[in-house]
Formats: sequence, structure tokens, C-alpha cells
Amino acid sequence: MSATRSLVTGVGGYLPAEIVTNDDLAQTVDTSDAWIQERTGIRQRRRAAKDEATSDLAVEAARRALAAAGRTPADLDLIIVATTTPDLTFPATAAIVQRKLGAPVGVAFDVQAVCSGFVYALAVADGFVARGQSRCALVIGAEIMTRLLDYQDRTTCVLFGDGAGAFVLEPGAGQGTKADRGLLATALRCDGTKQDLLYVDGGPSTSGAVGHLRMAGQQVFRHAVVNIAEAVRAAADAAGVDMAEVDWFIPHQANQRILQGVAHRLGIEESRVVSTVAEHANTSAASIPLALDAAMADGRIGPGALLILEAMGGGLTWGAATLRL
Ligand code: UT7
Repeated sequence: MSATRSLVTGVGGYLPAEIVTNDDLAQTVDTSDAWIQERTGIRQRRRAAKDEATSDLAVEAARRALAAAGRTPADLDLIIVATTTPDLTFPATAAIVQRKLGAPVGVAFDVQAVCSGFVYALAVADGFVARGQSRCALVIGAEIMTRLLDYQDRTTCVLFGDGAGAFVLEPGAGQGTKADRGLLATALRCDGTKQDLLYVDGGPSTSGAVGHLRMAGQQVFRHAVVNIAEAVRAAADAAGVDMAEVDWFIPHQANQRILQGVAHRLGIEESRVVSTVAEHANTSAASIPLALDAAMADGRIGPGALLILEAMGGGLTWGAATLRL
């Protein structure tokens, strides 16, 4: 049965220039490089410059993804930005990105599902593409998480970094089988009863302030390992894909121990897991496209590869996507 698939025709990533090492953080908060590396695998993270906004990071990643796809901003009819650190309360960061890119009037909006935002945004964009409502879509994950951190709280301030990653999606004809290129299936979840485990303690209709990130790390950790594996199986089953056929696993980059735990549960060898957590730390919605960009840039992943993307974050939200490049 023929099917319109959302093909990923371009991938791009952008990391701000400033590198913050674990030792840098240890100068101002009671932590150590040894603790951070042992418990998380993180060695460093990037921090956006004072005059950089989330839309600036998003635009850089978007330009690189468009160049990889052989497209220009003039081709775009849909821009979705997954972010939890928007430039402004409104308009959507996607509208600002549209203006900065000089893209024509079209559809542009943000998706807010925190670290799962990129997987959610891909699923939403796929709906537009599959129904013929978009011929060229940009899906961006962009975050300046360092502006949400409480630098007195060592349990959270060492974990996050800034960055952006983007996919260009375009329609392609498929047969409706797992041999098709493009997005094959997604599985999305949210359990709002667990929102107190990971949240920001501010907002326009409550405190009136931006607030700081708060997390019950151990509980989030346990939830991640168990529930991500379930969503990954659901996204694989929906595509008719067996875990042994998956070429590469592109997880959200929160903690090396979570990556290993999920892969172990699924029977995926570490050699098939892309990990950028050491260099990028947790860049929330940006982490999946940044990880894929890194693995494509060094030649590990190329056209035809069968991928599973997964993430978990505040909400609690989580989800997975099966994708053939
Ligand atoms: O994007 C999705 C959301 N985020 C995540 O997925 C993160 C999920 N959670 C985690 O990655 C881990 O739970 C953490 C990295 C946050 C914490 O690792 P842990 O192995 O669960 O450590 P813990 O919370 O059990 O803390 C162990 C000890 C505590 O000291 P005591 O009570 O044993 O004396 C903490 O106070 O480590 C202490 N600690 C630190 N020590 C040095 C916590 N943070 C630090 C730190 N430096 N930065």
C-alpha cells in the first residue's frame, strides 16, 4: 500500500562557542570533575553568549540543515521549534526563526514537551507532510538550558548545556513497509501526575518570573530507564521493525548511565548507540538532532540507515521514533 513518508533530507547542528568544563563549575559549586563524569558521563557543556537567544541557535542549525538538503528558506512552508527556553513568552520562537531566516509566510509554531520535544515535533510535522500540507518542513530542537539553572543547586546545574539541531522534512513516496525511507512510526507518552519530579518553578501565570529547573534526579532516572524502553518497543513494533535490525540508536543525551540502561534492556549493544553526552551534556530538545548530526558528520551514519530516536523529559513526557534515513 503506497504511503507518503516524511523524508529527512537534511540534518544540521549548532553549538555555541563557549565551553564550560566540570572543573569550571567546581570553582563555584561543591562538585568535582570525578563525580560528574562517574555519575553522568558529562565532561563539558556549551554555554550561549549573553547576546545569543534560542532563536539564534535555531537559525544556525536550520541554515546547516537547509544547506544539507539543498534547500533555501524560500522553500519552507512549515517551521516547528521544540523548545522549553523560548526567546519570549510569545510570539513563538518559530515565528522569530521564520523572520530571521527570511522564510515566506507559512505555518510556524513551537512545541513544548521539554526534553521529548524533538520527538513530539517530528510526529506533528509528519502529520502535515503526510496530509500534503507541507512540501518542505523544518523541525528544530533549540535550547538555552543554562538560563534555567540554579547555580547554587549542584544536583542540577552540572547536567545541562545549550545547543540546537534541525531536520528538513520533505514528502517522498513509500510502499508502506519498513523498507521505506522516512519516518516510519512514533510512540508518544505523557504522565502529568509525575510533573513534580522535573519542572521549572516559575511561569507567566503563576510567579510571573522565569524560574529555575528542579529535579528529583533518582526518581527521574528510574522512570527513564523503564519507560523509555517501552516506548521504543512500541515505535519499533508499529513500524514492524525488530530491535536486531536497527542500525543505530539515537537517544536523548541526559546521562550515560541512562543510555546504557535503556540499551541494555532492549538488547542493543553499546556499539550501536550514539553518545554525545560527554561533550554536549543535556541540551533538552536539541540533543537528538545534535547527536545525529555528529554521527553523520563523522561518517558513522548515512542514507538508508535504520534509526530509533528516543527521549524523556519534564511532564513527564517520553517517546520514540523509528526512522530510515
Ligand atoms: O532530560 C531528562 C531529565 N534528566 C535526567 O534524565 C536525569 C536523571 N537523573 C540522573 O541523571 C541522576 O539521578 C543524577 C545525575 C541527577 C544524580 O545521580 P545519582 O547517582 O542518582 O546521585 P544521587 O542523587 O543519588 O546523589 C548521590 C550523592 C548525594 O550525596 P549523599 O546524599 O549521598 O551525601 C548527592 O548530594 O551525590 C551528591 N551529589 C553530588 N555530589 C557532587 C549530587 N549532585 C552532586 C554533584 N557533585 N554535582
